[in-house]
Amino acid sequence: MTAIIRVEDLSKQYRLGADNTYRDTLREVLTDALRAPFRRAHNGKGSRPAGAGETFWALKDVSFEVAPGEIVGIVGRNGAGKSTLLKVLSRITQPTKGRVQIYGTSASLLEVGTGFHPELTGRENIFLNGAMLGMKRAEIARKFDEIVAFAELDKFIDTPVKRYSSGMYVRLAFAVAAHLEPDILIIDEVLAVGDAAFQKKCLGKISAVALQGRTVLFVSHNMVAVKSLCTRAILLQIGSVVEEGDPARVVNHYLGAGRVSRAETIWADPMHAPGTPAFRLRSVRIRNDAGEVTSELSTHESFRVEVEYENLSAGSALGATVLLYNSDGVHVLSSLSNREAHWHGRAFPKGLFRSTCHFPGNLLPEGRFDVSVLVWANNYSISHREDYVVEFELHESIDARADYFGDWSGVVRPLLDWETQCLEGPETHSD
Ligand SMILES: Nc1ncnc2c1ncn2[C@@H]1O[C@H](COP(=O)(O)OP(=O)(O)OP(=O)(O)O)[C@@H](O)[C@H]1O
Ligand SMILES: [Mg+2]
Repeated sequence: MTAIIRVEDLSKQYRLGADNTYRDTLREVLTDALRAPFRRAHNGKGSRPAGAGETFWALKDVSFEVAPGEIVGIVGRNGAGKSTLLKVLSRITQPTKGRVQIYGTSASLLEVGTGFHPELTGRENIFLNGAMLGMKRAEIARKFDEIVAFAELDKFIDTPVKRYSSGMYVRLAFAVAAHLEPDILIIDEVLAVGDAAFQKKCLGKISAVALQGRTVLFVSHNMVAVKSLCTRAILLQIGSVVEEGDPARVVNHYLGAGRVSRAETIWADPMHAPGTPAFRLRSVRIRNDAGEVTSELSTHESFRVEVEYENLSAGSALGATVLLYNSDGVHVLSSLSNREAHWHGRAFPKGLFRSTCHFPGNLLPEGRFDVSVLVWANNYSISHREDYVVEFELHESIDARADYFGDWSGVVRPLLDWETQCLEGPETHSD
């Protein structure tokens, strides 16, 4: 394989000072200013002890090669070094050690949409970016309409980008990066911003870009996207590559690492329990068939999710909702207690209540699931949602599989009834 990207022993050291020397190039100052409104809350940045002059390695001895046409997904926890790696590859920041060789033009769409000038209009930025990719003005002009149409920004193309909403900004940044025909497209987390329809469009465009034989490097926390789009994945952990290869395998490794099963969450101190002035959550737990609190279940057994909440205001009508997410982050189902026979719609006295949601066996496939809950009152006018309060793991039930042991994918796995009939042949039945 002739590599299009070659990364050798790449290390990046950052210094944590009192002034938080966060930026090492002028370009990064720009990017950071632009990034601020789009920053998701996370615990990566700033979670390290920031002693003056202290240094740490955001990337440590990272080596890999990428062949032309590969779509490489880079995954890892917050602060693992993913964005740092892409910034070094995009030459926005210098490595401390090691080197990067890139044989071709590259366009980057970092957390930010690097390379946009806030004072310039969308139109001017498109031409500026094209020029930075070494394109001639006429070439850019040919692509211009397509870019504007993809970004759905026709009305705003002559507005300075600093006036764009975060969604508009990312739409333009993605459209520019994807349409200017770079050899290598470098994308960081773009799919986290923008609505579902645009995310879908971006994923479609990424695979189209890849089909043209271009190379894509793609950082994402969306494991479904990584598994379905990428030809290879790289798992970064504290600045180092810990696994590389088949996307499904790497994603599973990543999702399985460092997680503890949690069958029960109890808010022991009512004063600090989540909720509203009308009610608060007291506990959520999972029980198996036998009534035991457990996070390990078999795919064929039934189980229940109990939501306990305290009504603080006599006369409210309360209820609960359970939401289930699989390990790809796919929202598998929601269920609410509004068809419950005893209490739904009645005035609740003050006190402690439990709503139990019953799940049948043979509904879900093996894997890990996260449970979020909602408690609501008075025709859903007041509600409180608590995410990922409990989780459980379903283990394969051999019975349900019968004689088939191969891959069995899908978000749900009910046991459906089948019948086979002979329509033509020696055993044809006339009925
Ligand atoms: N310019 C900088 N100066 C100092 N530290 C930095 C700088 N940029 C990143 N870091 C630190 O380097 C580490 C790696 O950060 P990076 O942004 O690469 O993580 P990431 O994998 O992209 O995380 P996320 O999933 O949250 O986007 C973090 O601890 C971060 O705080
Ligand atoms: Mg990042």
